[in-house]
Amino acid sequence: MMLCVRHPLRRIFVCGCSLILGGALASSASLASTQVAPAALPQKAAIASAHPAANQAGQDILAAGGNAFDAAVAVSAALAVVEPSSSGVGGGGFYLLHRQSDGRDIFVDAREAAPAAATRDMYLDAKGAPIDELSRSGPLAAAIPGEPAAWAWLAEHYGRLPLSRSLAPAIRLARDGFAMYPRLQSGIRYNVERMQHSPEAAKRFLINGKVPEIGAVIRQPELAHTLETLARGGAEAFYRGPLAKQLVDGVRRAGGIWTQSDLSDYRVVEREPLVGHYQGARIVTSPPPSSGGVVLLDTLNILSGYDLKQASSVMRTHWLTEAMRHAYRDRAEYLGDPDFVSMPIDELTSPLYAAGQRNSIRPDRATPSSVLRPIGASLRDGPTTTHFSVLDREGNRVAATISINLWFGSGWVAPGTGVFLNDTMDDFSVAMGTPNAFALVGGSANAIAPHKRALSSMTPTFVETEQGLLIIGTPGGSTIISMVTQGVLGWLNGQSADQVVSARRIHHQYLPDRLNYEPGALSAEEIQGLKALGYDLAEWSTRGNMQVITWDYGSGLVQAGADPRGFGVGLVY
Ligand code: DON
Repeated sequence: MMLCVRHPLRRIFVCGCSLILGGALASSASLASTQVAPAALPQKAAIASAHPAANQAGQDILAAGGNAFDAAVAVSAALAVVEPSSSGVGGGGFYLLHRQSDGRDIFVDAREAAPAAATRDMYLDAKGAPIDELSRSGPLAAAIPGEPAAWAWLAEHYGRLPLSRSLAPAIRLARDGFAMYPRLQSGIRYNVERMQHSPEAAKRFLINGKVPEIGAVIRQPELAHTLETLARGGAEAFYRGPLAKQLVDGVRRAGGIWTQSDLSDYRVVEREPLVGHYQGARIVTSPPPSSGGVVLLDTLNILSGYDLKQASSVMRTHWLTEAMRHAYRDRAEYLGDPDFVSMPIDELTSPLYAAGQRNSIRPDRATPSSVLRPIGASLRDGPTTTHFSVLDREGNRVAATISINLWFGSGWVAPGTGVFLNDTMDDFSVAMGTPNAFALVGGSANAIAPHKRALSSMTPTFVETEQGLLIIGTPGGSTIISMVTQGVLGWLNGQSADQVVSARRIHHQYLPDRLNYEPGALSAEEIQGLKALGYDLAEWSTRGNMQVITWDYGSGLVQAGADPRGFGVGLVY
């Protein structure tokens, strides 16, 4: 079948044969195309997560005879308690699994779904302009949560222990409390006003209306009760029982639009992960409704045409930035929920398409994004969401990125439940071409529709070579994909788990047309060289909270690295 894809520059059409793309051309861009299998099982298990208490929960479950999938439930639920700013019962996410017994890779899509009463223009005023904060704060911003369904799904289909056993550590943490720590404290400080609008949130996360001191014990009896209900009755109890009624009543009383059937209709969806190849590595990554895998694979395909090892550091940054610019641009135009829009995924991830994109990249100057498509905005800070990675001794693995979107999601806790509801509705294109909280723009592919899942950047990923394995992911909104890309490149260049998570990073997302860099990511000479190529550069604050596990097949060495920008730990057991 002949396929033609319009190039973003709109003048070029790239054509090729889809059957050939999967084979000959794909392997010309990469050295290995077969699944890589380790010679032996890992002698160690490892967990990297954003909070030590979540590692402990996972370790308890592994010690109790659970596998990586049971541990993933325990880690997720513990994070819901100790990192309520970032993910939880009121949110959703993606779980990328590898089951060692049959070698299967599985992508569990537990992304939140829009309620049935959601409409394309629900956040717009009479003039068609977005109403400030409506898609980001309060229960109208919340889509139907997927995390509780994912936990029940993992326990039932992949785990070895009952859901109630894997949820036990989180229930204890919610009831007995945990100590306030700096990252959460700064999140609360940044959101005091929103907390004050949700009495149920203020009750647990403010002390006399003030931000709790470091070390203050945070207990969440309502959340403990919600988790117990889930532990006792499974997904059924969350999506259909009295708890569901409590959620729906609370949401509707506060101006939201959820109904009982929105909750009872919710399902996790198993999807085929995307698989691509780069320099001999097999990349197993996230399909839509994540945009991450498509952008990651397109970026790597574009890069595969350059000799990065021989290039100067300025040219390396130039090629990487241009690749990201082009790949992020297509995200805006094409991608959305696969159950609602058809997308040219095979084309966007094909080496032939990338070759067309590469042809338009000049070695001597930055491509202005305005040549690709105009729009502009600034990025809003807010490193929430969370990622964790798990490897068990049997070789099962999990890369999970889970979220309630912005800090504390909608900032609103459903009365009596202790559950912060997400504000994932803001990940839709609220108005065509209007940037969301991460300055991402989108078109009709990502417009709001009943039951639709908003396009995400979350990119849990496995990378396998003949030498070893990388399990990687991070929060960071639109910057997730560029961070994962740089993590993959770093590991393929020989970086250890700690080096991957600590490396200073750059970011370009097509619009705004700016190359952002962390302090220390670029030298003065590199900045000068990039300016000479026409880049608009800006230093920005630290981003990401990457959690990585590596396994070297030759030596058997398993490493777990937690991003030093966060509070997490990587532990090998
Ligand atoms: O799914 C997404 O792409 C966003 N909801 C992720 C949000 C996130 O990573 C927040 N961190 N800055």
